[in-house]
Amino acid sequence: MKHYLLCTFLFSLLSLSVVSQQRTLSIVPEPAELIRGKGSFLLDAKTIIVAENNDAGLRHLAETFTGWLSPATGFQLKIADHAVTSVKSIELSLNASIKDIKTEEGYLLEISSNRIHLSAAKPAGIFYGLQTLRQLLPPAIEYQSKQAVVWEIPAVKITDYPRFGWRGLLLDVSRHFFTKEFVKKYVDEMARYKFNILHLHLTDDQGWRIQIKSFPGLTETGAWRVPRTGRWWTYEQPKPGEAATYGGFYTQDDIREMVQYARERNVAILPEIDVPGHSLAAIASYPYLSATGYLYPVNPGSKFYNIEDNTLNPADERVYDFLDKVFGEIAQLFPYPYIHIGGDECTKTFWKKSAVVQDFMKKEGIKSEHELQSYFIKRLETILKQKGKKLIGWDEILEGGLAPDATVMSWRGMSGGVEAAKQGHNVVMTPADNVYLDLYQGDPATEPDTYSMLRLKTCYQWDPVPRDVKPSLILGGQGNLWTESVPTDRHAEYMTWPRALALSEVFWSPVQKQQWPDFQNKLEAQFHHLRAAGINYSRAAYDVLATTTAKDNKQLFAELTTDIDSLTIYYTIDNTNPDNFSNEYKGQPIQIPEGIYQLRAVAYKDNAPAGNILILSREDLEKRARHK
Ligand code: ACM
Repeated sequence: MKHYLLCTFLFSLLSLSVVSQQRTLSIVPEPAELIRGKGSFLLDAKTIIVAENNDAGLRHLAETFTGWLSPATGFQLKIADHAVTSVKSIELSLNASIKDIKTEEGYLLEISSNRIHLSAAKPAGIFYGLQTLRQLLPPAIEYQSKQAVVWEIPAVKITDYPRFGWRGLLLDVSRHFFTKEFVKKYVDEMARYKFNILHLHLTDDQGWRIQIKSFPGLTETGAWRVPRTGRWWTYEQPKPGEAATYGGFYTQDDIREMVQYARERNVAILPEIDVPGHSLAAIASYPYLSATGYLYPVNPGSKFYNIEDNTLNPADERVYDFLDKVFGEIAQLFPYPYIHIGGDECTKTFWKKSAVVQDFMKKEGIKSEHELQSYFIKRLETILKQKGKKLIGWDEILEGGLAPDATVMSWRGMSGGVEAAKQGHNVVMTPADNVYLDLYQGDPATEPDTYSMLRLKTCYQWDPVPRDVKPSLILGGQGNLWTESVPTDRHAEYMTWPRALALSEVFWSPVQKQQWPDFQNKLEAQFHHLRAAGINYSRAAYDVLATTTAKDNKQLFAELTTDIDSLTIYYTIDNTNPDNFSNEYKGQPIQIPEGIYQLRAVAYKDNAPAGNILILSREDLEKRARHK
């Protein structure tokens, strides 16, 4: 008996030590079900990849996978059509009868020491299983040069499928133009985290970015504006005779190439042509499109709202002819069933002032400008239907009555989405307070200039399905990267990651698997992947953010927080850089005594700085208190 107990004790110790040696897994988005096994699969140069039945789609995915692995491993893995005993293999198989994976994007991944078996009903599932496998490898797998690393993949069984079918990111290519090459890189980044829709905001007041053969002026004129640097909305208007040299556009061949590239990565491109507002670039190209009829320049980022007429004329048949031709070409270029028609922030100032528009409203019995906007959107829906497409628009399309089959993208909070769902319409949730990736992610003093705040935790902790609506009407959600203040590729990445990591989990993982403490624990490993892959990301969640209050307009107090839990904040008020020997912030607001003119703070983790030092002058602190 004693002997038995001793054995049991020793055995438990042994298994404990095996468990404690297991690498913590960091898969984002968190899979629906994950069971850890014993041991691991060691990827080596002799490992083969099996594309079952020599299926062409599987072969293509196997080639994609070897392409991801070869730079860092130096292996050129062989692709075979059947497994061989005694050779380690990664087997890909399509199996339409797998029931557990629920959707066409789901997959089953089983990893043991000599075999990896990945099966799915459709190639999309295999693609996502391979992305998960990529994250199970050491992060060094992302480097583009050979690494001296043991390529160990922990034994697991994963059954995985998405919560939502619509898992999008919006990239605004109008306010600043982003090249075809960057869009492809962005698609690659999205695909890593199982996003499947890239919403391209192709037109706005500051640029028209897609070639339309029926209207060449849209890109000859509309794609270019005068160059400006500085702070958006304060730029100087074009000077007389100044050349419009800043901008760019995608040719139709570029679009086809991007669509195909994205499609191979299970990403559909959703095109947005924003009408009837936000149309200054089109009006600059064809002034007859507005009721005002003035010749305006493409806006360079200066103030113009309600000064220059950026709205299409809903009373002019030539406008509907324009829309018919433009959306006809768009429908041909983008296979995705939806087209986004914008519909947001359409100022009514110029419609109110226009005799032509007002006469038209009387003639048609249209009682308000909201109803007129609704008339316009309904006509546009008819045009799209004729081209076999479905209409989606921002939540302003509710004003004056929704078009019969419209889908609503709710951005001014969730209420537009709730209203649309109550009317039985489909909804995509993109509430600005949770998904606008152009907002500050950390303290404005240490972040690139923008407006308002969206911290990582706020991205993570929301549910796209509001109470009291039929969940099946919520197609999913989307993070939106507007680019007024985001002029470069690296900056666009910085604003996207890691907030889009949080959103990927919101859109993909079952609610009970979305755990903020676990997500935080996965971040460092994900940062390692992103760094190795050359993707810029922000560590602002580890930086200190200061908010201030002034009692009786005099005594100044500062409250310090970080997004990431379990960091220790240290601060100084003597203009020296803080370290872990400085004052520890204990959670109570600090009083900033009179005469003190600087607060500095930094967060530490495990006795090392975790983020940037925040430096705020007394003036800044007082200003913040005033703006509360
Ligand atoms: C929007 O942010 N105007 C959709």
